[in-house]
This record gives sequence, C-alpha cells and structure tokens, in this order.
Amino acid sequence: MSSLAVLIGSAAAIYGALSIAMGIVPGVALSQTKPGPGVQPLSALAAEGRAVYVAEGCSYCHTQQVRPLRQDLVFGRPSTAGDYAYATPELLGTERNGPDLSSIGQRQPSAVWHAIHLYEPRALVHASIMPAYPWMFVVKAHADPGDDVVSVPAPYAPAEGVVVEGPAAKAVIAYLLELKQAPLPEASP
Ligand code: HEC
Repeated sequence: MSSLAVLIGSAAAIYGALSIAMGIVPGVALSQTKPGPGVQPLSALAAEGRAVYVAEGCSYCHTQQVRPLRQDLVFGRPSTAGDYAYATPELLGTERNGPDLSSIGQRQPSAVWHAIHLYEPRALVHASIMPAYPWMFVVKAHADPGDDVVSVPAPYAPAEGVVVEGPAAKAVIAYLLELKQAPLPEASP
C-alpha cells in the first residue's frame, strides 16, 4: 500500500484480467456459436422483412426467445444459442405484450392470415391491442396482374377499391413465415 506504482500496477492488472475474462472471452465464444441442426439462414426477401420488423419496432412487444417454462410451451421448445447463429443481432426482445414469435411460421403458416392481421389486427383478433400497419399496403381501384390482393373482412375493408400487399408487407410476411424452430435431436434440450 506504500508504493504507488505497485498499487496502480496491480489495479490495472486486475482490471485488464477481468476485462478479458468477463468481456472478451465470452464474446469470442459466443461469436463462434455453431448453427443448431437444421437451422437455415433467411432468404433474401425474409432478410428485408427482418429489417422492416426492426424499423417498425415489432420487438417492443414481441420476443423471440422461448423460456424453459410451462407457460412458454405453446410457443415451441426452449430456445438454444444455435437457433440464433444466423440471426445477429438477435431480436430476443424483453416485452411479452404479444405472443413469442420464435416459431410463428409453424404456428401460423398462412400468409393470408398475416396479411389481414398486419393490415388490421382487429379484423381477426377482436380485442387485439396490436397497432395496424396499413402503410405496408396499397389501396387500388382494381388489382393488376401479379398483385397479392388481401381479402380484408367487410367492416375493415376500404369503402372502395382493393387492398394489395406493398413491398414491406411482402417482406415482413416472408420473414414471419421463415421464423421456425428446427427440431432438436432427441434429449438434447
Ligand atoms: C403494441 C404492441 C405490439 C406491436 C408493436 C406489435 N405487436 Fe404483434 N401482437 C401484439 C399482440 C397484443 C398480439 C396478440 C393479439 C393479436 O393476435 O392481434 C400480437 C400478435 C401478433 C401475431 C400473431 C401471433 C400469434 O401467435 O398468433 C403476429 C404474427 C404479430 N403480432 C406480428 C407483429 C409484427 C410483424 C409487428 C411489427 C410490424 C408487430 N406484431 C407489432 C402486440 C404488438
């Protein structure tokens, strides 16, 4: 305690060692996480959809991490590190205002359902508090060939014209449909 050099030197050495042990080593270990069996990278369109998902703040209400808890069993199996190998940065989320979306592509594989739900959640889930995303869609007088027309139920459909998926809707729906959990080999969870 009487030598300033020893005091500062040992404090710096402890700080340096802890930085390596608690910051750098876990970071390197995590960056080498191998994809779990059957985990696939996103398609180009789904990757665009993921950017829309981030920009629209979907993860303020939705998690993508299934906990090993009984109430999470409905969302799939507990998540593992290998599930996120291609999904960096991970969109784990913390708020569970809406259901977990880790396996939404399996639980709700209908693109039509997702399109109507994004246009107006209340059209499908009466008491939903999810915001509507009408700007992802285009209202046209008539559908052109190749348009994905959304069959919005009557009270929510525009008075005139048809609702057609815009680029953001197409991309985010592709993303939602690719959110799947690959089955794990027996007993590995
Ligand atoms: C303010 C919170 C909130 C935001 C923001 C939000 N959601 Fe939701 N979401 C909910 C709630 C609550 C539900 C459950 C009721 C329902 O199905 O509408 C839900 C349901 C869903 C479902 C159906 C889940 C299931 O298991 O049936 C999907 C898919 C979904 N949201 C996607 C999205 C996407 C994509 C975005 C961003 C574009 C988004 N949500 C933004 C709250 C939110």
